[in-house]
Order: sequence, then C-alpha cells, then structure tokens
Amino acid sequence: GMAVIRDKGEMRSWSRSRRKAGGGLALVPTMGYLHRGHLSLVEEAKKRAQFAVVSIYVNPGQFAPTEDLDSYPSDLQGTSVGWRRWGSMPSSAPPTFTTMGKAAALEGKLVSCVEDRGGEGAGHETWIRVERLEKGLCGSSRPVFFRGVATVVAKLFNIVEPDVVVFGKKDYQQWRIIRRMVRDLDFAIDVVGLEVVREIDGLAMSSRNVLLSPTERQQALSISESLLKAKVAVENGETSCEGLKASVTWSITQAGGRVDYAEIVDQENLGVVKRIRSPVVFCVAAWFGKVRLIDNVEISL
Ligand code: PAJ
Repeated sequence: GMAVIRDKGEMRSWSRSRRKAGGGLALVPTMGYLHRGHLSLVEEAKKRAQFAVVSIYVNPGQFAPTEDLDSYPSDLQGTSVGWRRWGSMPSSAPPTFTTMGKAAALEGKLVSCVEDRGGEGAGHETWIRVERLEKGLCGSSRPVFFRGVATVVAKLFNIVEPDVVVFGKKDYQQWRIIRRMVRDLDFAIDVVGLEVVREIDGLAMSSRNVLLSPTERQQALSISESLLKAKVAVENGETSCEGLKASVTWSITQAGGRVDYAEIVDQENLGVVKRIRSPVVFCVAAWFGKVRLIDNVEISL
C-alpha cells in the first residue's frame, strides 16, 4: 500500500524504522504533477530498494520572483488524491497512460509523499552552491535556481535519509550537480540518473507540457526533432559544434520558439565543447509562449 506523510519528523522516523528492517530505502524527489517520466524513476527506485519514497514539494527556493512558481501545475491540494489525479490531467496532455497503469505501478512497495512547506520560509539563510557546475546552461538565465535545488535536495536527504536517490537526465545539469554535491559533502547516497522519457512523438515529458497551447505543443516538437538530427549528424562524422548549434537554433526559431540556449557540453564536467572528441550532451532550453522547456541528447562517439 501507499502511505502519505506530511510531517518531517514523522517521515524521518518512518524511514529509520524501515531502514532498520533492512533492504534499503530509495528516494525520488519531485515537484508533483506526476507523469510517466516520474514513474520511470519510481519503478527504478522500487527495483533498487525495499522501500521507495516519492517526495512532492514545489520548492519556492528554486524559483526567482519573475518565474512561474504561481502557474507551476500543482496537485498539492491533497497529496493523497494527487495519485488519483494522474488520470485526470488537462486534455492538452496526450493521453498516453491510464490511471490504472499508474496506480498499478505503485503497488507492492510502500510509496509515500513528503509535502513539507516549512522549508525556505522565514529565517532560512543557508544555501548550498555547487559553484562551477551551477554556472552555465540553465544557471545563466536562472541564477538562483540550482542553489534552491541543491539546498532542498540536501534537506530531503536529511529528512528521508535514503540509500539511493533517483533522478532523470531530462534535467541533465541538475543530475550532475546533485552527484557533485553528494561527493563533495559525503552524503552516503547512490545517485542514479535515468534516460529521458518522451511522448510518442518525441517531446520530452514535463509537468509544464500541460501549459502549452495545442499550437505551442506542436511547435515544441522542434526541440527533440532537431536534437535527434544533430545526433545523427555527429554519428555520420560531424564534429564541429558551431554548425550543429546553429541548425538546432534555426529549427526551433523557425518553428516559433525562442531559444534560451543551445549548447554542446562535456558529459562529465559540463564544460563547453567546440569540437566533439569525447562524450557530450547537447542541451537546449527554449520558450514557447510563456512556457520554458528543456531537453537534451547524449552523444557518445
Ligand atoms: P520535477 O521537475 O518534478 O522532476 C522530478 C524528477 O523527475 C527529476 O529528477 C527530473 O529529472 C525527472 N523527470 C522529469 N521529467 C522527466 C522525463 N521526461 N524523463 C525522465 N525523468 C524526468 O526536478 C525537479 O522536479 C526539482 O528540481 C526537484 C529535484 C524535485 C527539487 O525541487
């Protein structure tokens, strides 16, 4: 069955008693509004540990005042029904799953949610910064984003005390930052990164996709399509990044999007690469109307 836990102290004692029983505990941090991408993480968490915890928390600390905290799709109105709401997402979301499928995915292992609003409230003044990795890519246009992410994830680690934490590589920079933080601060936690889960047409799943109009939803396909083309070009021998970035930027702009960045970086250290000689990741952020989407493709020669 599934338990929903809202209190930090209760969460910690639940975790401790489960860990004592043996078998390990895995954590999947989320901001709710769950889709199949999140579910793939939950599935992996269940494989890697006896118990899985899914945290749901729309963390104000990672949104700048100008950003979309207020319009971020939320199912916080009762996390206990959040799971059931999976079946009733707005109709602009392609119906690629059923409520039953989602509910079934959670059976057998205890899944619970932390919905903790007592975070970056009054008096909070401690932040974790992963100084180099947080700078490029999303860090350039969202300067306080990653300190908010790193800090809330560290808090979740302290509250849940997991053995394993599962992230999606959809948020590639976030995944690298958390791995760095875990090493640098000696958290005894394995960090797992999973492949991007996509809609049938290729669009990377995101909680923000429901905010796209039907036209924008169509335009947004230009991201995954152009990234895939770039990957094929590299596989066919292209090594110069300039042209690859230009054609992705052109495709997205042509479709009606506004590119925030299109950057090819080293998979490990996220340093900008000019010529592809080692494994890279091609990362993109682009606006469609008021919605900012990110996606990436790993390219290993
Ligand atoms: P959120 O956007 O809800 O994502 C939660 C987790 O799901 C992240 O690890 C993210 O990479 C993963 N994810 C999202 N879409 C995915 C997809 N299409 N395929 C695979 N994985 C996907 O990322 C956050 O929340 C927050 O920053 C958080 C880490 C919870 C800190 O507040």
